[in-house]
Amino acid sequence: SSGALWGGRFSGGPADALTALSRSTHFDWRLADVDLRGSVAHARVLHRAGLLDDDALATMVAALEELRSDVASGAFAPVPDDEDVHSALERGLIERAGADVGGRLRAGRSRNDQIATLIRMYLRDQARALAALALDVVDALVDQASAHPTAPMPGRTHLQHAQPVLLAHHLLAHAWPLLRDVERWVDWDRRAARSPYGSGALAGSSLGLDPAAVAADLGFDGPVENSIDGTASRDVVAEFAFVAAMAGVDLSRLAEDVILWATKEFGFVRLDDAYSTGSSIMPQKKNPDVAELARGKAGRLVGDLTGLLTTLKGLPLAYNRDLQEDKEPVFDQVDTLLVLLPAVSGMVATLTFDTERMAALAPQGFSLATDVAEWLVREGVPFRVAHEVAGACVRACEERGIELWDLSDDDLATISGHLTPGVRSVLTVEGSLASRSAVGGTAPVRVAEQVEAARRRSAEL
Ligand code: ARG
Repeated sequence: SSGALWGGRFSGGPADALTALSRSTHFDWRLADVDLRGSVAHARVLHRAGLLDDDALATMVAALEELRSDVASGAFAPVPDDEDVHSALERGLIERAGADVGGRLRAGRSRNDQIATLIRMYLRDQARALAALALDVVDALVDQASAHPTAPMPGRTHLQHAQPVLLAHHLLAHAWPLLRDVERWVDWDRRAARSPYGSGALAGSSLGLDPAAVAADLGFDGPVENSIDGTASRDVVAEFAFVAAMAGVDLSRLAEDVILWATKEFGFVRLDDAYSTGSSIMPQKKNPDVAELARGKAGRLVGDLTGLLTTLKGLPLAYNRDLQEDKEPVFDQVDTLLVLLPAVSGMVATLTFDTERMAALAPQGFSLATDVAEWLVREGVPFRVAHEVAGACVRACEERGIELWDLSDDDLATISGHLTPGVRSVLTVEGSLASRSAVGGTAPVRVAEQVEAARRRSAEL
């Protein structure tokens, strides 16, 4: 009974080792629902082509719907002899509709065009779910940004103090990449919305079935243009996998900031108890496990993408059984992101910032030196000279263990005749922030607009 879909030309059954290797029901069973939806659509085009009479169509559709609810309830499940989800469901159909009617469904259809269609249906559904969860992370970041409209923090490059920025500006810098990941999924969906159904094994069908009708029935924009491409290509799957991997990488960069910020040394942020863990031996510990798992799971999300691309590399046209290996990587990505995204949005939404400490550290490390240089440029000094003068201020302060704003008017004048007391207007964090007021800058007025822009973008997607 094994190999129920292809026994005809074989004199004996498959070796147990082949059956074990070949079997995919333990991972492709999650496609059972889209498989049955596809089968109902296929039954309808068979009927329209005159290959199923009215009674047979009614029997077939009723049996498929019954099977669908039995799959949902768990009353029907694969057995060890079922090779894949398609074989198992054909067995279930024949059990319910009889061999005469049930045995007609496969006409004009191959598992090759079937699986290529189902993976698209499944991933299109999942992309919508994941995009919604990614937007929850975006919204949590935007809410935190709007709750801290003017709080400054040290902005860093090379992880060293660079220039003061608004906490809200920094948080939104994590929101925009995630918004782009969602845009990528939306854009990907246009390419995924082509149905390979009707491509058959590779060459199309001779039975007068209408691929456009099945495509429309299953929510696709239309059929694929080429039956070989439809059955053999998996770039649509790989592109989904890239977006999932990119989202994982974007989450891991946010996570790394949270991990650093939660250290004693930074002391920027306190994690909510509900989103942190303790140590089994050190009673005082509060660990950022959500963020660490986000960082760690980015590795497997990237691994899933590279594994899939490696499987596809060099495969000749058309279908090859290697393509069965396209599913586990993206299923793993889906499962990973479905648990990861809600944990990250919860963690972000419940962060408590020590805004006093962040404000106190914002001007440390001579992070206002660029403001001195740019003030001099506005006074007409060439930037090369301005850079030297501001650098000399830093050197003087370092030697004396003081900050830029501790330099007296005389000190300033001694360093350079250009340094009049007017420079003090930019020697405060507030002055520095307010001066960076071009579009995209960290001035509070611009960041307030940015919060609204991010909110609108999230609501549109
Ligand atoms: N389970 C296969 C897959 O995932 C589909 C079956 C195609 N098998 C075949 N011998 N043509 O790609």
